[in-house]
Amino acid sequence: MLAKTSSCSLNGIDAFVVDVEADISLGLPVFQMVGLAEASVRESKERVRAAVNNSGYSFPMDRVVVNLAPADVQKGGSGLDLPVAVAILAASGLIPADATRPYLLSGELSLDGRIKPVRGVLPLALTARDKGFKGLLVPKENAEEAALVDGLDVLPVTCLSQVVDFFAGHASIVPCTRDAEGMQNAFFPGADKDLSDVQGQAHAKRALEIAAAGGHHLMMTGPPGSGKSMLARRLATILPVLSFDEILEVARIYSVVGGLETWKKASASRPFRAPHHTISDAGLVGGGARPMPGEISLAHHGVLFMDELPEFKKNVLEVLRQPLEDGRVTIARAGIKAVFPCQFMLVAAMNPCPCGYFSEPGNTCTCSRTQIQAYRAKISGPLVDRLDIQVAVPRVEFAELVSPKKAENSLLVRSRVEKARQLQAQRFAATAIFCNARMGSQDIRQCCGVDKGGRHLLAQAADALMLSARACHSILKVARTIADLDNASDIRTGHLAEAIQYRGFDRKTD
Ligand SMILES: Nc1ncnc2c1ncn2[C@@H]1O[C@H](COP(=O)(O)OP(=O)(O)O)[C@@H](O)[C@H]1O
Ligand SMILES: [Mg+2]
Ligand SMILES: [Zn+2]
Repeated sequence: MLAKTSSCSLNGIDAFVVDVEADISLGLPVFQMVGLAEASVRESKERVRAAVNNSGYSFPMDRVVVNLAPADVQKGGSGLDLPVAVAILAASGLIPADATRPYLLSGELSLDGRIKPVRGVLPLALTARDKGFKGLLVPKENAEEAALVDGLDVLPVTCLSQVVDFFAGHASIVPCTRDAEGMQNAFFPGADKDLSDVQGQAHAKRALEIAAAGGHHLMMTGPPGSGKSMLARRLATILPVLSFDEILEVARIYSVVGGLETWKKASASRPFRAPHHTISDAGLVGGGARPMPGEISLAHHGVLFMDELPEFKKNVLEVLRQPLEDGRVTIARAGIKAVFPCQFMLVAAMNPCPCGYFSEPGNTCTCSRTQIQAYRAKISGPLVDRLDIQVAVPRVEFAELVSPKKAENSLLVRSRVEKARQLQAQRFAATAIFCNARMGSQDIRQCCGVDKGGRHLLAQAADALMLSARACHSILKVARTIADLDNASDIRTGHLAEAIQYRGFDRKTD
């Protein structure tokens, strides 16, 4: 007898439907699985056999052939265990043949028949909805994640016999419903960090606020212990709260890399990723035989913090450039192509010189000029150009550090950031852009007009700092954001002047 179930396999953060056909015919007892199965799928044979036997059914003592279609695509993941087992039990007559048709199934089986969580349930749920399935049966641990997708019956299951009883009509399963409000509350930035923890550093905080308001990449230069890491870790707390659609986009990426736990961690606030400088280029931008998202995608809609920027390998910094610009990264492997979104804000931090104390009052720096130049040259011009805001973070004065004056808290700063973002949302309503930092040269021409005085000022700065065209555009974009924070429709000379002084790195080499 022949029976069929449907499941999914992952390609990047997309899931495609896999049809699982099982046929039982008379013959010597063999269990064959065909349709270009990866090693993990072949191993699934042993788990399926044991799980079926240990759940109180007997594995057919005939010729069992399971076909995974489409045959010409690599299928991986342990989530195919459950649909394979159910297809076999349906073919042996335990389940009515068309009972499984309206559902997608996914789950790894343990040898005793229990169902274990799998990766990528959220993309699976999205595919189920797009393909018109009524619902899906997923491991209980993954149900909450799948339920983020509207309009589906998400049925949490814990063991194989429960699934068989459901399809045979002996038992029902209570669907998991989505808790959109609870989710969004969970995404509210955690209270353990607040911008008011940072004393003084008014200049750096202003730069951080502008960066947040316009979605600009930021670089902080300063001696060790001046609070660069502290500031970076608080950026997420002043960024606008994620919209539900953004939560879905982020959760989808976390769903693919690590299932529930990492996903829950991500749900505490906007993603904040701080990869160590020893990271490989594949780790940073994504890669692998079956392409997986890298750190830049895990930072989607959030912050990627690269501490000690010059310590990163040169090729790692190079591969970062394109995705920084595009907001997505394409990874092609033999026969497989995956596209991952990566609209993150880059925050880079570095010391001004190898010893860290260059340009400090008292001049305690022990580095030679050549050493300093070599250190800075590790970061290429094109990368520096893309860092819209470059700000010096000097050592905080002791008096400020112990001052009883309470600094502004994150909530207050975020309200200003959100106002500026609303202006940008109106400005870019008809486009795919959502913040000033993402403007192309066409948009800059349209939205960043400056008067004659401004043009003169910019020309002077461009000459004095030998700015590239990209750096000039970057100044205009930042000036636009400063004007937005000021609720001004035109960019005034003052706005432009402030934007120009955030090109600190360009002028520091002498
Ligand atoms: N402006 C500041 N206000 C309060 N504490 C600070 C400040 N700057 C530094 N610190 C203290 O110094 C520690 C080191 O700061 P950190 O952000 O790691 O410096 P950096 O990354 O610049 O080397 C922080 O954990 C914090 O306790
Ligand atoms: Mg640090
Ligand atoms: Zn030095």
